[in-house]
Amino acid sequence: MKKISEMTRREFVTASAATLAVGSFTRSSEEDHAEDRQERQSERGRGPFRVIIDTDPGVDDALALLLAMRSPELKIEAITAVAGNVPLELTLPNALRMVEIAGRDDIPVAAGAKAPLLRRLVTATYAHGENGLGGAVFPEPKRKPVPETAAEFIRQIVRKYPGEVTLLTIGPLTNVAAALQSDAELARMVRGLVMMGGSLSGGNITPAAEFNIYVDPEAARIVFQSGIPITMVGLDVTRKTSLTDEHLRVLDGEQNPVSQAAAKIARNAINHNRERGFLVGPNMHDSLAIAGFLDASILQFEDYYVVGYSPDAGDLRRQPGMEKDAAAQKMPIRGSAPTLAGNRTSPVLREDFVPNTKVAVGVDSTRFFDLLISRLSGKQGTR
Ligand code: BDR
Ligand code: CA
Repeated sequence: MKKISEMTRREFVTASAATLAVGSFTRSSEEDHAEDRQERQSERGRGPFRVIIDTDPGVDDALALLLAMRSPELKIEAITAVAGNVPLELTLPNALRMVEIAGRDDIPVAAGAKAPLLRRLVTATYAHGENGLGGAVFPEPKRKPVPETAAEFIRQIVRKYPGEVTLLTIGPLTNVAAALQSDAELARMVRGLVMMGGSLSGGNITPAAEFNIYVDPEAARIVFQSGIPITMVGLDVTRKTSLTDEHLRVLDGEQNPVSQAAAKIARNAINHNRERGFLVGPNMHDSLAIAGFLDASILQFEDYYVVGYSPDAGDLRRQPGMEKDAAAQKMPIRGSAPTLAGNRTSPVLREDFVPNTKVAVGVDSTRFFDLLISRLSGKQGTR
């Protein structure tokens, strides 16, 4: 077995998650960052990258799908639909509609879970309208989904290209968790997972919870504990992306099907927000996660043990500079408070702070919208 100091971050995270009882953590977060930066830089200009997009369209999902399908860096192996913003009966045809609008007959679409792993489905029609597209109406899709379930399709594709597939998740994590549960070896074959979900700074469905995690927290736990290298693009950054009338004007000005469809969805979403008296435009949560994968320099990241542990943040934060010291990494990560029927004390899940996620903490919104609007409109070609 390789020494920890010789491992890439991916190998380290995978190994440490597989053996919960890790020994000492000798690599600093800075070293990991430098390595990841190097990996990203050497990847830039390469590709296309194999991805599967798991989604619950959804206004911002729909625009994110169009962005992805207009991005030559991506080899989209599948789009998998899940229940979330609206029930699966709507998210599936909405995903198929976007594939047709983009003219991407080459991309298979699979139907996923109708409900979270353990809970009843909570939808977000208050934000996405009853049809999931903010009331924007498009014809019934002619395309049909593949016969496999989303979980099975994800499993097959990841196994076909071990180590190559990145999962881009922009809905509740039910499908991905079901795939991981169905195949114990799958997690270590996944190249990475970039999710829109979570928050370090307050929620949008409860004061603390972000919608995608709230809808299926058990699925989220399975994903976060899987050992897959995770990038989390949460409300901390996605709330800083508001679609404006000016963006709409650019989209509307171009006469191609993607730009016109994007304009129609954007117009409905902006009007919907205005009618409800919201001061900010609709947030482009899901498009930002896709854009962050296309160009990681749009976002800034910090290492966290999700949910929300870091030696540099919160009540337990250390003196500046101290985090470089191995002692600063001595930060037990605890599970929930014990129940009356269970343990007497809250369990220590691990003694040391070991990040499991790169969390986006900063965003260059201007560059993000340059990328989004230019690709959706087709106006400036692709960057
Ligand atoms: C997330 O929840 C959904 O409503 C959006 O599509 C996005 O994926 C934002 O919390
Ligand atoms: Ca979504």
